Amino acid sequence: GAPVEVDITKLEPGQLIRVEWRGKPVWVVYRTPEMLEQLGQIEDKLLDPTSSEEKQQPSYAKNNFRSSRDEILVAVGICTHLGCSPTYFSEGYEEIVEGVNSGFFCPCHGSKFDLAGRVFSGVPAGLNLQIPPYYYIDDTTILIG
Ligand code: FES
Repeated sequence: GAPVEVDITKLEPGQLIRVEWRGKPVWVVYRTPEMLEQLGQIEDKLLDPTSSEEKQQPSYAKNNFRSSRDEILVAVGICTHLGCSPTYFSEGYEEIVEGVNSGFFCPCHGSKFDLAGRVFSGVPAGLNLQIPPYYYIDDTTILIG
């Protein structure tokens, strides 16, 4: 499949946009400073907080935020359990994981992921969401693929 160009000029803090790449949904999320701060505080709730599973992300996304630019998450929006597409909660996630403000929830069997796509412990999914290959062509344009 061809690479996909994403213009993030109009992406606002807290917003998610969805594009399609190789027939898969890919999310681009502009994480706020508060969201990034929270990602550093929930490691004890996660199955693989350091993203040790090599195949789930390119090397440049093997870091605390699983991204090449801190605030921008680029992730394949497919649950690593059986392939449903999780729902994004920019807020109100406390109902799903106590003390966590935002994240993704898979409606099929209840898997939960944080805003770096890291899977929470104790859910059916066993891997963090996949981070696709991507790079910044310029400040506001991402090439996925
Ligand atoms: Fe997401 Fe089963 S497909 S929890």
